[in-house]
Amino acid sequence: MSNTNNSLGFESLCIHGGHKGEQHRAHLTPIYATSTFTFDSAEQGIAIFKGEEKGYIYGRFGNPTTNEAEDKIALLEAYGLKDQNGNPLQLKAILHASGMAAITTMLLANLKAGDTIITHHSLYGGTQEMIDKILPNLNIKATIVDFHDLNSVNAAIKADDTIKMMYVETPANPTLQCVDMEELAKLGKTYNLIICADNTFATPYLQQPFKYGVDFVMHSTTKFLNGHGTAVGGILIGRDIEKMNTVVTKTHRLLGGNSNAFEAFLLNNGLRTFSLRMERHCSNAEKVAAFLEQHPSIAKVNYLGLSSHPDHAIAVKQMKHAGAMLSFELKGGFDAGVKFIDKLKLCVSAVSLGTCDTLISHPASTTHVGVKKEDRERFGITDGLIRMSVGIETLEDIINDLTQALA
Ligand SMILES: Cc1ncc(COP(=O)(O)O)c(C=O)c1O
Repeated sequence: MSNTNNSLGFESLCIHGGHKGEQHRAHLTPIYATSTFTFDSAEQGIAIFKGEEKGYIYGRFGNPTTNEAEDKIALLEAYGLKDQNGNPLQLKAILHASGMAAITTMLLANLKAGDTIITHHSLYGGTQEMIDKILPNLNIKATIVDFHDLNSVNAAIKADDTIKMMYVETPANPTLQCVDMEELAKLGKTYNLIICADNTFATPYLQQPFKYGVDFVMHSTTKFLNGHGTAVGGILIGRDIEKMNTVVTKTHRLLGGNSNAFEAFLLNNGLRTFSLRMERHCSNAEKVAAFLEQHPSIAKVNYLGLSSHPDHAIAVKQMKHAGAMLSFELKGGFDAGVKFIDKLKLCVSAVSLGTCDTLISHPASTTHVGVKKEDRERFGITDGLIRMSVGIETLEDIINDLTQALA
């Protein structure tokens, strides 16, 4: 639970948050590579199992290395926020094997057969596929509405009392669509919906969904939180501590989507430089977007920091900076896009995002290949769209690489 270190600043929490010390005085929390933990007595085992005494039990349930990442990220998501009584907001986080594992735990801990989720266009492809292909088998449906149109969202919820959850991803992948969390959460709360937000693209450095009363936040920690592309991971953070400690913990343990000590160690290490990295990611991205927007070979740039982006005003309202993600279309469409990617020398052609190096990908043939073409195009993911996760290299080197690849 995020109840320690809450007088520290954000940058200090990135480094010290969640760190508990260790019996051999190791500076960093070691990799607890053990599948199980011992009890001093049968009585102690019973007490720990019952939750009457604190202690680790079994690797699938967690270990000190995963626990540090959980507490650190909970502190970052809660940073500066208050609960309804004016006290520092307490959150509980559970580390998972991947972002998809965290999302799955969240969905299955909260929904049952007959329930419906209300969500919007342009979710991460894996989440969209989960909603289209897995949840219907469990008789859980989804209603997709334009979340910019609050009247339509209201009408859809009013018309269907099976809607139990509002699912928001902002900014969304890869068009950078941004929706107004404050207004949506206010509306969702009037219908007692469970409100959850995928905060992977923005991270707690740029926006804190819990500020708006959201119940759950999920991340693919694989991205900016780890920052170095060294481990796949995910985290689920909740504000209802009782629910997190009971039904959510149970669902996590039984689904078996747990993280492990090695990948948690890499995440803890990456998080130590998180705020510095984010500043540099964002300042590089702003300049790269401005460069692309004026380039004669580019038809369109989607970047939240540009006033040309339709959601620029929402981003300014709820994000500290416009982030490090952008996408663009080349005037030459698909063929020009393929040639461009092949000519890159510094920027790396790879899916994923949020690593120190600049990554470039083609959503239609990679992350969104499982989403139907007509759905993709409806959500703005055209065949020629290129996605870019701007890294923290020397800005001139990124611009020079783009210049030569566009020539
Ligand atoms: C916004 C978003 N959410 C969730 C995920 C899934 O995360 P993971 O790949 O760690 O399972 C991704 C992966 O790209 C993503 O971009």
